[in-house]
Amino acid sequence: MVEDLRDFRRSKYCGEVTEEDIGRELNLCGWVHRIRNHGGVIFIDLRDREGIVQVVVEEKDSPEVYEKADRLKPEWVIGVRGKVRRRPEGTENPKLKTGQVEVVAQEIRVFNSSDVPPFPIEEETHVSEELKLKYRYIDLRRESMKENLLFRHRFYQTTRRFFEEEGFVEIETPFLTKSTPEGARDFIVPSRLHPGKFYALPQSPQLFKQILMVAGFDKYFQIVKCFRDEDLRADRQPEFTQIDYEMSFVGEEEVMDIAERLIERLFKELLGVKLKRPFDRISYRQALERFGTDKPDRRFGLELVDLSDIFKETQFRVFREALEKGGAVKAINFKGGNLSRKEIDDLTKFVQKLGAKGLAWIKVERDKLTSPIVKFFSEEETKKLLERMEAREGDVIFFSADTKEMVYKILGHLRLHLAQTYDLVEKDKWDVLWVVDFPLMEWDDEEGRFVSLHHPFTAPVEEDIPKLEEALKTDDLERKKELIHSVRARAYDLVINGEEVGGGSIRIHRTDLQELVFKLLGISEEEAQEKFGFLLEALKFGAPPHGGLAFGLDRLVALMRGLDSIRDVIAFPKTQKGICMLTSAPDYVTPKQLKEVHIKVVE
Ligand code: AMO
Ligand code: AMP
Repeated sequence: MVEDLRDFRRSKYCGEVTEEDIGRELNLCGWVHRIRNHGGVIFIDLRDREGIVQVVVEEKDSPEVYEKADRLKPEWVIGVRGKVRRRPEGTENPKLKTGQVEVVAQEIRVFNSSDVPPFPIEEETHVSEELKLKYRYIDLRRESMKENLLFRHRFYQTTRRFFEEEGFVEIETPFLTKSTPEGARDFIVPSRLHPGKFYALPQSPQLFKQILMVAGFDKYFQIVKCFRDEDLRADRQPEFTQIDYEMSFVGEEEVMDIAERLIERLFKELLGVKLKRPFDRISYRQALERFGTDKPDRRFGLELVDLSDIFKETQFRVFREALEKGGAVKAINFKGGNLSRKEIDDLTKFVQKLGAKGLAWIKVERDKLTSPIVKFFSEEETKKLLERMEAREGDVIFFSADTKEMVYKILGHLRLHLAQTYDLVEKDKWDVLWVVDFPLMEWDDEEGRFVSLHHPFTAPVEEDIPKLEEALKTDDLERKKELIHSVRARAYDLVINGEEVGGGSIRIHRTDLQELVFKLLGISEEEAQEKFGFLLEALKFGAPPHGGLAFGLDRLVALMRGLDSIRDVIAFPKTQKGICMLTSAPDYVTPKQLKEVHIKVVE
C-alpha cells in the first residue's frame, strides 16, 4: 500500500498555496493533519513546514482516489496532485494562511503510514514534558514548536548579517580543550591516546577569543555551543548557545554599542519592536539596593526602601538586633494590595522557604493599621515609616530585617513572587538595562577566598589597581576585604525583563596584572601556569587592549518568543536531570570502549 516517490515532485509547500494558484494543478507533499469524512466528500488537512492546506476528495468525481483517501490516518505521509479552487462562499477559514482556497485531489500517493502518535499534534497537549521530549520529532510538528525553531533560524541569520556588516570575522574554536573557568563544573572527555588524561568541553570560548585578539584578528564573533555541568533550571541547559564576540583597541563603550545595536536590530527585524536607545544603566550596588538582585526587572514597582536609619534605636527586638549586627531593615510597599490574612500567611511561608526568620507586615486600612508589629514602634517611627513608604489606604507593607545579603534575597524574591502571583507585569513591555560597576572580586565564605564576579580575566578599573597592590601586601584580612571590595571591574551585564541575557568585560592584557589578580584569587603561580600558562604566555607576545561580551542565545530567543523555558527553543534539549529523553543519554558504554580510554568505573 506504501508507494514510491518515483516521478512525484513537489511544486510548492502546502502552507504557501494562495489565491494566485487558483486554476493551477499542483503537487503537494506532507502529513495528514486531520481527516474528516462527510459521506461522499473527504476533507484532508495536509500539513508541512510552512502550514496547512485543505484537500478535498469527492467520491462522484474520482471514486478510486476517494477510496484511497478513506483509508488514510493521521500523520501518514502522502503526496496529492490536484487543482486549486476558491473555497465555496461561507467555508473560508480566516485562521489559515491558505484559508481562501482548497485543492481538489486527482491523485493521492501514500509514501508512508504512521503508528498512532503518542499525543495529538495540537497546541493544547496535556501530556508530560518527558513524553514530549521522548517523541520530540512529533512534538516539533506542533505549530508553536515549529515556529520557535524557525524564529531561532531567523535569529541566527540576522545576527550573522549584523556581524558581517560590522566587519567581524567568524572563527571556530575547539570543543576538545582544557578547562575554562566560568564558575561551573566541566564536562570531561577521556583521551584514548593519552592514558589518564582528559579533554574538557569549553564552558565558553573565553580564552581562545582572547588569544585570537593576540593573533591580530581584531574583531571576532561566533555562534557557539558552550558546556557547563551545573544544576539545571528553566533557564539553564548543560549545553547552550552563546553569541560570542571580542574586539581589540576598544573600551567598554564600543563593546556595549555593538551589543545595543545587535539587540536593537533583532527586536526590530524579528518582532517589529523599537527599543529605546541608549539602554539604561544601573550600578550593581543600586540594583541590589533597589531590587535586591543584580538582574532587576523594572516592569513593575515594589522597589526596596531602606528604613535602617528610622529603626536605629527601636524597641522592636527583631529590627534592632538585625541593625546591631550590621544588617539592614528594608521594606516594599504592595500598593493597593488589600491582601487577606490568608494571603499574607502564604507569603510568609514563601519567604520562610528562602530562609527568612519571618515576614513583618503592616496593612494600611481606612482609620487604622493592622499589623503584628506596630505596637512595638514609637509614634515617631511609625510616622516616618509611613511617610517614607508613601503609605495609602489599601497598601500592604512587607519588612525584612537581616544581614544585607539576606534582605536582598528575601525582598528580591518576594517582589518577583508578588508580581507573578498578582499579575503585576505589564504585557508587551521590554525592560532593557545594563548593570555596570560590578566589584572585581567578592569574598566567598564557603571557599575562604576571594572569587571573581565575572571571570579572572576581567580588568579592574585603572585607578583602582593600586588598591589591589596594597591588598596583596597586607595580612589583615578585614583590611584586605575592604580594599578588594572597593575595586571595580570593567564588566557589564545586559538584563532584559529580569533575565541576564549577556555579559562581558574589558580584559586584562598585561601579564603582570593578570598574575596579580591570580594571586589575590588564591591561585598559586604553579596552578596558574598549569591551567592558563598558555594565556599568560600569549599576553607576553604583543597582546592588544581588548574586550568582548557573550549573549545567551537560547535565553534571548525564549524571551523574544514569550516563553518561560529555554527548552522550548532548543530542538533537542535535556530534562531538568540532564537526560536526553530521545536517545537516553547519558548511557553506559561497552567494557571495550571503557578499556580503550583507560577508564574503570567504580561502583
Ligand atoms: P557568562 O558566563 O555570563 O559569560 O555567559 C554569557 C551568557 O550565557 C548565558 N548562559 C546560559 N544559558 C543557558 N544555559 C546555561 N547553563 C547558561 N550559562 C550562561 C547567559 C549569560 O549571560 N566568557 C564570558 C563572556 C565574556 O566575558 O565575553 C561568559 O561566558 O545568558
Ligand atoms: P517574633 O518576635 O519573632 O514573633 O516576630 C514578630 C514579627 O516579626 C512576626 O510577624 C515575624 O514574622 C516578623 N519577623 C521575625 N523575624 C523577622 C525578620 N528577620 N525580618 C522581618 N520580619 C521578621
